[in-house]
Amino acid sequence: MDSTAKSDAWRADRDHFLHPYTDFTTFQDSGSQVVSHGDAMYIVDEAGRSYLDGIAGLWCVNLGHGRSEIAQAMGDQAQQLGYFNTFGHSTNTPAALLARQLAERTPGDLNHVFFTTGGSTANDTAIRLAHYYFNRLGKPKKKKILARNGGYHGSTYFAAALTGIHGIHYGFDRIAEDIVHHLSAANCYRRPEGMDEAQFCDFLIDEARHRIEQLGADNIAAFIAEPVMGAGGVLVAPEGYHRRMAEVCQQNDILYIADEVVTGFGRLGHWFASEDRFGHVPDILITAKGLSSGYCPIGAAVFSERMYEVISKPQGPGGVLSHGFTYSGHPVSCAAALKSIELYEREDIFGKVRDTGPYLQQQLKRLSRHDVVGDIRGDHLMAGVELVSDRDAKRNFPPDLAAAEVVFGRARDYGVIVRPVGDTIILSPPLIISREQVDTLVDSLDQAIEDVSGQLMSRAAAS
Ligand SMILES: Cc1ncc(COP(=O)(O)O)c(C=O)c1O
Repeated sequence: MDSTAKSDAWRADRDHFLHPYTDFTTFQDSGSQVVSHGDAMYIVDEAGRSYLDGIAGLWCVNLGHGRSEIAQAMGDQAQQLGYFNTFGHSTNTPAALLARQLAERTPGDLNHVFFTTGGSTANDTAIRLAHYYFNRLGKPKKKKILARNGGYHGSTYFAAALTGIHGIHYGFDRIAEDIVHHLSAANCYRRPEGMDEAQFCDFLIDEARHRIEQLGADNIAAFIAEPVMGAGGVLVAPEGYHRRMAEVCQQNDILYIADEVVTGFGRLGHWFASEDRFGHVPDILITAKGLSSGYCPIGAAVFSERMYEVISKPQGPGGVLSHGFTYSGHPVSCAAALKSIELYEREDIFGKVRDTGPYLQQQLKRLSRHDVVGDIRGDHLMAGVELVSDRDAKRNFPPDLAAAEVVFGRARDYGVIVRPVGDTIILSPPLIISREQVDTLVDSLDQAIEDVSGQLMSRAAAS
């Protein structure tokens, strides 16, 4: 690609912006697509090409692009108070009101909100405060964390340690290997041969019990899980899994951390999925992304009354809870979140998801006509389509074929953005998507797979 024909922004980006998750085999040549604006379900690049956003930016722009009411709320707040810290005994009105609104919407007695800058810092906060909680209870041995293979919890050092997607650790150091222990992914598609879903659920629960026995419940602080695994390939656990894991945790005095960074704020048709979809109340709930509909960086870890009672015990003269970020409770981010909550309610967005979500899942079934489609799965507006080179053997394509990436490129030619992760194509559109736009998304993906599957199959056979 001739970089001289590219814009100043394209060149500045290629030369100076070290991006998250960049493939450096192609970056120097292809650079980045410069996205210049967005409007409802669409984004537009600097060449003026418009694309249906099938991934809500990155699972976050739930209310769609270009919402002037959110922009107005942010602008007004920036003018009134752009920033002042919330350390110690200082606060601001949007942060205080948002904390109450979150407490009212999170399940059970999750009433105490620690604000962060995103999902990774919220997960780090959850682990630090889980350790602090047990230290204050006089149980300092309770340090280990159970996580899951395939789980994604972020990119700070500890959130990355929790993450169980093995490929993304390549070249990086692993820390906390004596602390973090990964259980099997609740991957129904790749469950052991001959097991039905109920037996697979028993298998996962037994595995967790055995691991707890092995490690000793007295040494384990918490279990962390996404209600539906996102970046790990949109894996929906077998029926009853989360409720049963919550019981196992309770029996062993292990805190259950629900990482609802993706599933919160309506993606599964409710404020949060833990209780309304999966029937349990966690001890800590993590949220970010849809909280501000992606308009401003913000995340939160929400703690139960039981934990708050311990965490809030005075340390003694001069002692403070020494954890916090400069931007905890940032007034502009909180104003964006408050406005987002107002819009979710006023426009009955989650009611719409309860219609369009099942419709998306049903329409996607059409893709099974392609031999390269091994599995289609998801829940409401979260979907994964896993590609295979051999359906019977459930064999993925050789990694160098980057099969999902090829489909992504072709879909983009048709004007829709999907997300390739490993051999899975992920869809997570803004929650305002209409049934007609679901049709466009699925039709374009169907056509893209049709166009490239022959070429992928023959390259796989030759390799
Ligand atoms: C489930 C989950 N947890 C945590 C994170 C990390 O959030 P952030 O990138 O805001 O730090 C993500 C990001 O995609 C996520 O999907």
